[in-house]
Amino acid sequence: MAKVKIMETAFRDAHQSLIATRMSTKDMIPIAEKLDRVGYHALEVWGGATFDSCLRFLNEDPWDRLRQLRKAFKNTKLQMLLRGQNLLGYKHYPDDVVEEFVKKAIENGIDIVRVFDALNDLRNLETSIKATKKYGGHAQGAISYTVSPVHNNEYYVQVAKELAEMGVDSICIKDMSGILLPYPAYELTKSIKAAVDLPLEIHSHFTSGVANQTYMKAIEAGADIVDTAISPLGNGTSQPATEPMIVSLQGTEYAPDIDLDLLLEISDYFRELRDKYLAQGLLDVKMLNVDVNTLKYQVPGGMLSNLVSQLKAQGKEHMYDEVLKEIPRVREDFGYPPLVTPMSQMVGTTAVFNVILGERYKMVPTESKNYVKGLYGKPAAPISEEIRKKIIGDEEVFEGRPADLLEPQLENYRNEIKEYLEQDEDVLSYALFPQVAIPFFKQRLAEKYRIETDLLNQEEKTHPV
Ligand code: CO
Repeated sequence: MAKVKIMETAFRDAHQSLIATRMSTKDMIPIAEKLDRVGYHALEVWGGATFDSCLRFLNEDPWDRLRQLRKAFKNTKLQMLLRGQNLLGYKHYPDDVVEEFVKKAIENGIDIVRVFDALNDLRNLETSIKATKKYGGHAQGAISYTVSPVHNNEYYVQVAKELAEMGVDSICIKDMSGILLPYPAYELTKSIKAAVDLPLEIHSHFTSGVANQTYMKAIEAGADIVDTAISPLGNGTSQPATEPMIVSLQGTEYAPDIDLDLLLEISDYFRELRDKYLAQGLLDVKMLNVDVNTLKYQVPGGMLSNLVSQLKAQGKEHMYDEVLKEIPRVREDFGYPPLVTPMSQMVGTTAVFNVILGERYKMVPTESKNYVKGLYGKPAAPISEEIRKKIIGDEEVFEGRPADLLEPQLENYRNEIKEYLEQDEDVLSYALFPQVAIPFFKQRLAEKYRIETDLLNQEEKTHPV
């Protein structure tokens, strides 16, 4: 038995889950020095939706955030979340873009790259895992957790073994919806630890109210690391709170080496931040409640609120219950994909179409068609002939690795933004989010020009010519 390690998510998943990823770098830096002394295994600070949010809402360069954080954290490992071949976007990128992205993430300060694929199709992780190893990072293979007739312990053990063969340094069970229950977590952890000789990390969300118990049982079964969020940003749709988790383990062989007094000082800082977010209307107290729908439908909280707004936009709110019932049926037809980005959106929208149009698969969103064509990878269970015919007719299903269909793009991207290029990393910002990167570059240029003009004017004032 060994001491458990704690991975803190305050700077990534916690604010992504609670305040739509709006924490700015200037809210992070003042507390970094203290966080760096706590004794965390790592801090998740980058990736997921933070990249998009920096450019789109905060007028920040995500690469600059990473460099600032790297400078502030001298002792603690920095971790990021990467959607495999999707990187931080919503489609597959060619291998040259994926490799360059991972290289730059590590160069700018990331130590641990957690990669996952919504379908657990490991071919979608090959390039990012290889690149992480090549550039000296720690590659963590994350398994998307879901519940279905085909997602049993044998399935997860098989995925873990294959990840180990691919050379990952650790494994994570990634439960994005908070549906991993305590006793199944115990069995799952035991099975994976028995099959694979790698550190195992558990990532869950408090959404349905069970994650604390789940972590405790997983720890008893041998989990090495658990993901938590400092209490003012913990629980609700975020991770279980850090401090209660640590106190719960005190006096046992699992007790982590964490400076609890320091942690309590840090909580004060984040409590003030949380109050600020509440006052700004960024934090909705509803996010802090236990969501019983997640327990009932095993649908992530974010997906439910998306559904409500989709239905509202059509004036069809009264069909909400019907759509909720249609989701598991679509999911079954689709081979039980875990409901994580982009599958949650795909399954949700398809269910909405099916219900609103009064006939199943009469009209199907393009993404769902592409999914059935195999362009996102292979589902855990096969899609039936009948459903496939309904959705894509006689079109062929692609069986290979989806990224093999993509030509290298990096040079094209570089040429397209030549006029704005200030650092190599800009190419990647543009590759991922062209619509938000360009306005960001333009503003950056204008800002620079304004500062130069100001300086020039000052110069003229002090040294009249
Ligand atoms: Co998460």
